Formats: sequence, structure tokens, C-alpha cells
Amino acid sequence: MSFRGPSVISRLAFFFFFFALTACSYSPQTTLDPKSATATAEYDLLVPIFWAAVVVFVIVEALLVYSVLRFRARGDSDAIPVQFHGNTPLEIGWTIAPAIVLGVIFLMTAQTMTVVHSPPPAAAGNSINVRAIGHQWWWEFQYPDLKTAEAKPITTASDLHIPAGQVINYTLESIDVIHSFWVPQLGGKTDLIPGHTNHGFFNAPQVGQYFGQCAEFCGEQHAQMRFRVYADNASDFDAWVKGQQTIPTAPAAGLAQQGATLFAASACIGCHAIAGTKAIGNVGPNLTHFGSRTTIASGVLDNTPENLSKWLHNPEAIKSGNDMSVAMRTVIAQWGGDADKNIEMLVAYLESLK
Ligand code: CUA
Repeated sequence: MSFRGPSVISRLAFFFFFFALTACSYSPQTTLDPKSATATAEYDLLVPIFWAAVVVFVIVEALLVYSVLRFRARGDSDAIPVQFHGNTPLEIGWTIAPAIVLGVIFLMTAQTMTVVHSPPPAAAGNSINVRAIGHQWWWEFQYPDLKTAEAKPITTASDLHIPAGQVINYTLESIDVIHSFWVPQLGGKTDLIPGHTNHGFFNAPQVGQYFGQCAEFCGEQHAQMRFRVYADNASDFDAWVKGQQTIPTAPAAGLAQQGATLFAASACIGCHAIAGTKAIGNVGPNLTHFGSRTTIASGVLDNTPENLSKWLHNPEAIKSGNDMSVAMRTVIAQWGGDADKNIEMLVAYLESLK
């Protein structure tokens, strides 16, 4: 699948003016560096509208400044300037000109909408289905057609792996409030609405990592409801799928084994699921292959043993208001004893779940 990106010169000129006006710094979470046909179509609409707005702004401001200077009161005269009402040619002019501008924008928008709403032809074996579920404040991703060894859909959180070049048909659902699915470099936003399933598609022609973000205010940690899209080449994606389909073997010895025993005996299993164990909760992220993910807490921390330890010790300090904050205090109280040691065991166990 190919797509036409904006030319280097038009992109540079646009960046220059856009950043000069907004004082933004360049980041990978941007609509100004589109990486899919959908995002490129949207960018190609944004640029002419932006320049049209620049032209209108310059003309209006120039007339305003000219009028202020040319017709300001001079000297001490209190005389009222000559009053007049109505100027038919002017009034026709300033009605027709914006109507033409808006008409052109409407036609361009309608044309872009047809591109954005027409999925590329999906040959057999060239598309996959993904179910994205919004939670306060993290993303759950399920692959309904890719079943694990327990015959359940592959279920993950925060990291969305997709095969580069294929069409990703998604459904969007929310279990609590309205969220919005947005991967700026791959396409526009679509809301996740409780009790209503939205559908859409996107694709990533190029292998790479793309940043996603909830784009609808959904509570205290809305800004920390992030995700990453990994567009893998075919063999990497197959390897990832195979890994996720496997039920992890219980650690046989050491801290990880102690952690597994502790996890199974703690309230953790009321909220989290780990395939092959009695943990089947679905309030928090499925942790079956937790160790294979790149981030913790919906993209807030890199997934390292140090960060996981920090998170388990005090989730409130990292992401206030999240459900883990209360739950973890309960769990630590339930343990009694040495919380540091227990958390060390849990970290060893969870990170072993590759
Ligand atoms: Cu979910 Cu904002």
C-alpha cells in the first residue's frame, strides 16, 4: 500500500509558520508528519485551510490597522466624522467572498471525507480486527480473531501491535466514560462511547512506532491515557502473536516463583487476569504478558523493574486518582509484613511474564 506524503518544501514552510505562531516544539505525536493515507489526506486539507486563514488574517488586520491610523481623531477637534449608512457593492463583496471561501473548503472537506471513510481494498489475509476498549485511564486491546492457547482473544494493554501495511479494522468501546482514540500520525480521532460501538479503520504503511493518546477529556488522568502503536513487519508481528498466544509457564524457583505465589494469594487477582492462573479479573489490565510491554500505567513509565517497583509502592504519586492507588493500599495492608520484600517478589514475577 502506498501513499503520497507532502513535499519537503511545503512541509518546511508549514512547520515554520505553524511553530512560529504556536511556539510548539516538534514531537512524534503530531499531525504535521503524516504516515498513512488517511493522515496524509487530513494534512492535505489542513494546509490549504491554514494558508487561506493566513491570507484572510493578513487582509483583515491590514484593513483594520489602516483604518485606525487613517481615520483616527486628529488635533483637539470634537467634530463627529461624516456619518453614512450602507454601501451595496461592499456588502455584496464581503458576503460573496467568504461564501466562496467556505464553499471551496466544504468541497475539499467532502473530498477528504470520502478518502478517510473508504478503507483501502483489503485482500484476504490483508486485514486484522482489533477491539479497543477505553478505561479510566488506560487502553485495552483485544484481537478477536487471534486466539490464545486457552481459546480466548489475545488481550493486551497500552501497546497495540499491528502488521505494517495491513488494514486494521477496529471497534471502539468504553466501559465507563467517553474517550477518544487518536494516533495523530495515522489518522483522526474517533470517540469511544459507553453503550455504543464505533467502527473504523487505519493502517500504517511503514514499520515503526506511533504515539497514541486519548483525545476526549475523561477525568483527572486524561492526559496520561496514552498508548503506543507498533507497526511490525510480517515476521515480527507473527512472532509477537505467537508469544501472546502462549500461556506463560509458572516460574519454578526464586523470587519470581515467590511472587507468583504471593500474587495468587493477594487481592491482585480480583482486578487482573493472568492466563494459566486463577487470576481472571478484568478491572485492570490483563497481565499475562506484562513483561513484553514497553510501558507501565498507560504509557506513563517505561517498563523497567525499578519503575514497576515505584509504581507498586505508590501508584498515587505517579498517576493520582487511579484505581490501583486504593487497591494497592488494601493489598499492602492485607500482607502485613515486609511490603518492600513482597513488592520485590511481585516485580520479579511480573517482569518474568514475557
Ligand atoms: Cu480517556 Cu481522555
